[in-house]
Amino acid sequence: MSDKKNIQVCFTADQFSKYSDGKSTVVVVDVLRATSVISTAFMEGVKAIIPVQNLDEALSFKGKEGYIIAAERNAKPIEGFDYGNSPFHYINADVIGKTLVLTTTNGTKAIYNAKDHKVITASYINIDAVANHLLDEHNNIIILCSGWKGVFNLEDPIFAGSLATLLLSSGKYDSNCDSLFASRQLMNNSNGNIFKFLSESSHRKRLKSLNMENDTRFCLAPPVKSTIIPILEGSKLVIL
Ligand code: MLT
Repeated sequence: MSDKKNIQVCFTADQFSKYSDGKSTVVVVDVLRATSVISTAFMEGVKAIIPVQNLDEALSFKGKEGYIIAAERNAKPIEGFDYGNSPFHYINADVIGKTLVLTTTNGTKAIYNAKDHKVITASYINIDAVANHLLDEHNNIIILCSGWKGVFNLEDPIFAGSLATLLLSSGKYDSNCDSLFASRQLMNNSNGNIFKFLSESSHRKRLKSLNMENDTRFCLAPPVKSTIIPILEGSKLVIL
């Protein structure tokens, strides 16, 4: 009997209940921008990240010593919070040793939906470290794309295709998942230029309309790589 493990791709946070098995390792991705922000914040010295589901929960930490609060809705920062959801907010910022409380439109919801599993977060910043960790662990995997308000987006499945290709090339996994097959086709069709391929994507256009194209460029082709793998322990993301 093959000792190959299985990989699946779930296209939106809302569909996760169809994949949930309580045993697989869940890799949450919201590449534009929540999981890219999470990777960047840890790289810049944040101690822990508490993903929360609503603005009031995040605001309950406002002004607490050692905490910073960040919120995004519809890609926009929210009045009254320290930060929005741009990776640039955390670069060379006063975040070392702080605990970040974060709520976003989709990414923090995906993390919550998967909380009964081992959950790690991935981006193009830490994709190589995540792939190596998963290969060492050799467990069944669900790559959970955050999507946009319950519907499919392009960028997260392209990332899923990138990660799945790295894992399947090891020979240690197989898959019978149409979402994974579609994700790999999308990734292949981007011909190595995801930014260009996403010219017509809804979220790239949404971010562009808010003068956030540089965020998109950074998240899709980050100038830095990190070996940090954020893992959910209780209600907090910490460094694995
Ligand atoms: C999300 O979590 O929905 C995204 O990160 C939205 C964004 O910040 O662009």
